[in-house]
Amino acid sequence: MELSGRVDVVDLHKALGGQPVLQGVSLRVEPGEAVAILGPSGCGKTVLLRHLVGLLVPDRGEVRMDGEALHRLPPRRLREVRSQVGVVFQGAALFDSLTVAENVAFPLRRHRRLPESRIQEIVAEKLNLVGMGGTQDKMPAELSGGMRKRVGIARALALDPKIVLYDEPTAGLDPVTARAVDRLMMEVRARTRTTTVLVTHDLLTAFAVADRVAVMDAGRFVMTGTREEVRASPHPLVQAFLRSSALGGVVEEATREA
Ligand SMILES: Nc1ncnc2c1ncn2[C@@H]1O[C@H](COP(=O)(O)OP(=O)(O)OP(=O)(O)O)[C@@H](O)[C@H]1O
Ligand SMILES: [Mg+2]
Repeated sequence: MELSGRVDVVDLHKALGGQPVLQGVSLRVEPGEAVAILGPSGCGKTVLLRHLVGLLVPDRGEVRMDGEALHRLPPRRLREVRSQVGVVFQGAALFDSLTVAENVAFPLRRHRRLPESRIQEIVAEKLNLVGMGGTQDKMPAELSGGMRKRVGIARALALDPKIVLYDEPTAGLDPVTARAVDRLMMEVRARTRTTTVLVTHDLLTAFAVADRVAVMDAGRFVMTGTREEVRASPHPLVQAFLRSSALGGVVEEATREA
């Protein structure tokens, strides 16, 4: 059954290594909506994201996709649900020994039974979508950081997911490349109408891509709101993010004009 793209995170708690990591996180994401989770390093963003694909099981609370709690799904159904959730892992995480084409084809070979010609068609289509057409035979080591991110996005889109999750898509990129990846995520969303959840410590990325931003600190959301609401928030962490991004904003203006 196809997902609508609605995600509900309900009072999620998780401890790892004896330490509380998620301490009561709740969030509803509507079909087609883009939500950014903005927070400092170590606040629990990746752990939260891993719950959204059922890679971690909550200690308390649940993640629901169209009302179905992931950790209660039978393995077959979980696999089916997961195949409709595309994930761009932190650092792109390409398979270094596989070509670009084989990286993008990986989920197709795993979840679909398709003739080789159709696989190559889909690979070409997804690479074109991210501006990487013609790079099929390259190895990941031959690509720049920004190009690797693009291929990671193409791979996440291979199965035409209803939901796309991005973990720190702009981390480690120079500001100009980071803004280009922001634009790519916006384009992908506009063209595929997927639900988008992105976790980041880059406020510019959060503001560029998301309709709503949840600000996270130490395993909790300190506020959730629109860009304007975030800008107006007096919360010290929010203010610190706004100040530290002020210089990045100048770069953003410059690249927009370029
Ligand atoms: N498997 C694990 N075992 C023990 N502790 C863990 C595990 N995974 C994560 N943690 C801890 O949970 C906390 C949150 O980690 P997480 O990776 O979610 O942070 P993050 O917000 O994604 O940070 P970053 O921005 O640096 O990627 C950290 O203190 C981390 O050390
Ligand atoms: Mg992380």
